[in-house]
Amino acid sequence: MNREIKIMGSALGPRMVVNGREVDYFCGTSYYTLHGDPRVKEAACEATRRYGMGPATLMASPPLLEVVRRVVEFFGVESAQYIVSGYLGNMLLAQALSDEYDVVLVDAASHYSVFDGLHSTGKRVVPFQHLDVDSFSQQLRSNIQPSQAPLVMTDGVFPVTGAIAPLKDYVNVLARYEHWLLCVDDSHAVGVIGEKGQGSLEHWGIQGDNCYLAGTLSKAFGGLGGIIPGSQQLMCKISRNVKIPDGASPPSTAAAAASAMGLKILSEHPEMRRLLWKNVAYMRAGLRQLGIKVEESPIPIISLSSLPKVDLKWVQKRLEEEGLLVAYVPPLGYSDAPNKESLRIAIFSTHSQHQLDLLLDALGRLL
Ligand SMILES: Cc1ncc(COP(=O)(O)O)c(C=O)c1O
Repeated sequence: MNREIKIMGSALGPRMVVNGREVDYFCGTSYYTLHGDPRVKEAACEATRRYGMGPATLMASPPLLEVVRRVVEFFGVESAQYIVSGYLGNMLLAQALSDEYDVVLVDAASHYSVFDGLHSTGKRVVPFQHLDVDSFSQQLRSNIQPSQAPLVMTDGVFPVTGAIAPLKDYVNVLARYEHWLLCVDDSHAVGVIGEKGQGSLEHWGIQGDNCYLAGTLSKAFGGLGGIIPGSQQLMCKISRNVKIPDGASPPSTAAAAASAMGLKILSEHPEMRRLLWKNVAYMRAGLRQLGIKVEESPIPIISLSSLPKVDLKWVQKRLEEEGLLVAYVPPLGYSDAPNKESLRIAIFSTHSQHQLDLLLDALGRLL
């Protein structure tokens, strides 16, 4: 994103120091602000004191093993892969499964990491229009023979707009193929949606050993690194077809310990998810009361665009002057950013009602 870099002056939180000044913070992706949680910070410090920065390849430190154990538990799967970044997760999945699909259908506004990952496989990639089931269906019909196996890739939740991909509709369309695969970049969905916080597949009630997700611990879970939860069989395919786990250093000990603690906290406190949904519902309802069209959705990303005669850059600056930080996204400024400017508001479980009211009041005056 063509963005102005701001400088942190404190640990991340709903109220924090940015550019030398305390602000109410409505940006980013740490939806429970676990990155600044004292338990997460202490876990990272303690692990570093004990194990240093990490194993420098070819060894597993206990915090790394702990992440895998907790991911297995959180997602109710047989096993998991933990790698240095979520960005690499889509590449890992696309390569691991490369023997099993012929052509890829991809939402045209999927994250950069999805396209980079697909590019590495050398397979034919056919984009369909963003979130458009008709375009998906038409591209599938025109490009894939009944005897071929399509792989479908998309973000489960899109990072700028917060749109949820209509995965159930895609699956219904795919039913006419004997073999198909679905891989979801669920970076913004894991820990947030689904009955148990397992992400967009759980949200849509989609199960099956042909449906996969790549997630991250760098957002809702307050840590760092990519995760691929799945079966033992998937792990075998990863070790057979993918070089990343052997060829790249694992996440640092501090990142692993922080991630394991984030997973533990979120597993033990499902009420945090309910609190997040409550804050999201409150903010969305408040915006609707201001006359702004905002969808009913559990996603803690609210995108404001299409406001006639409103200069959103100006609004973002005035909000910042009042100590309220939201993100300005220029047209096409990120993988799924609309072709017009927008404001991206991130809602946290830790925002107080007073903070949400302050933002609503300011938006009511400025929009
Ligand atoms: C949709 C999506 N996928 C993948 C990533 C990369 O995740 P990570 O920061 O863990 O590398 C991001 C990061 O912002 C993202 O928004």
